[in-house]
Amino acid sequence: MTKMRSQLLPLLNKRFFKFVPEAFLERGGGYFYKLYSMLPASRPRIHSECNLTLGDWVLDTPVGLSSGWADTVDKMSIAHKLGARFVTSKTITLNPRRGNPRPRIIRGERFLINSMGLPNPGVKAWIRLLEQNPPTFPWIQSIFGQSVREYIALIELLEPLVKIFELNFSCPNTEHDLPDIETAIRQIRDITSITDKPVFVKLSPSNTPKGNKKIAEKTQEHIEGLVLINTIPVQHPRLGNYSKRGGLSGDIVFPELLKHLKEVRSSFPTFNDLPIIATGGINSPRRAYIVKRDYDSIVSTITGFLQQGPRIFDLLSLGLTHACKKD
Ligand SMILES: Cc1cc2nc3c(=O)[nH]c(=O)nc-3n(C[C@H](O)[C@H](O)[C@H](O)COP(=O)(O)O)c2cc1C
Repeated sequence: MTKMRSQLLPLLNKRFFKFVPEAFLERGGGYFYKLYSMLPASRPRIHSECNLTLGDWVLDTPVGLSSGWADTVDKMSIAHKLGARFVTSKTITLNPRRGNPRPRIIRGERFLINSMGLPNPGVKAWIRLLEQNPPTFPWIQSIFGQSVREYIALIELLEPLVKIFELNFSCPNTEHDLPDIETAIRQIRDITSITDKPVFVKLSPSNTPKGNKKIAEKTQEHIEGLVLINTIPVQHPRLGNYSKRGGLSGDIVFPELLKHLKEVRSSFPTFNDLPIIATGGINSPRRAYIVKRDYDSIVSTITGFLQQGPRIFDLLSLGLTHACKKD
């Protein structure tokens, strides 16, 4: 029995995830992973000695799950058990959202396109979940508001239960356009002024790398750090929404992530200057190694998890052990 989980792990490989239905990816295999995470792990976790801080937490292996999969507290806890050292919640909004019409996930060999549209239970139901089952591991609360006022309302409601916020200034799948750079700067300052909690801001690759760097420069006093990057806006004829718009993620977006990391790190060279959580096609030890060694960033993924399964966290941890090896 104790060996079962590590015996199953190699079976959960790229080939397996190539054949699971897109509906499994959309629902994220919640029950499957719940059962799987209940099997005792017989192999110790891989630990690096990177020691990056996330709010009050020190992560010796700074690898996590990006926002999008964990739309219940139970799923956040499953992701943690499966190897994510920190978990970012699904983006939560003031009111419940059903999201966009299906199909809303398209899968390719090296990418996913999603047009989920932030389906979530709304902040009141989410608070009930957090109160019933408060997370005991490092986690980040992602939120999206349609206005500064909505963001402030979300923070006021969630603040007693949350240690770190992530403002989703980057979702391509809502009916609202992204704010331009100057507006984003103003809004981020206004929103962060009402809380003492650390706030990360998640930015879009629709902004130029210089635009995202400017946001960091002009808000650095107000924020804890950045999350780079959200999905790249694209169109696909099979998506169920009227405009056929969705967001591209996974393997092929890695070069785009590097462009943004490079530009922002040109003004903030180290993690201590500006913490960055990097997500965008980080799906191998080599890529985790590059992101840590060259850009001193925390490593995070969701498409890697959806397309390669929970072993992704071991793979990325392995890259980090090399990046942080003491000579
Ligand atoms: C199915 C799916 C749902 C997502 N939902 C969210 C979300 O709710 N909030 C958010 O900020 N980003 C969301 N994202 C974007 C990811 O968090 C991440 O920024 C992006 O996919 C790039 O990283 P990756 O290549 O590792 O997936 C979602 C991505 C996917 C694939």
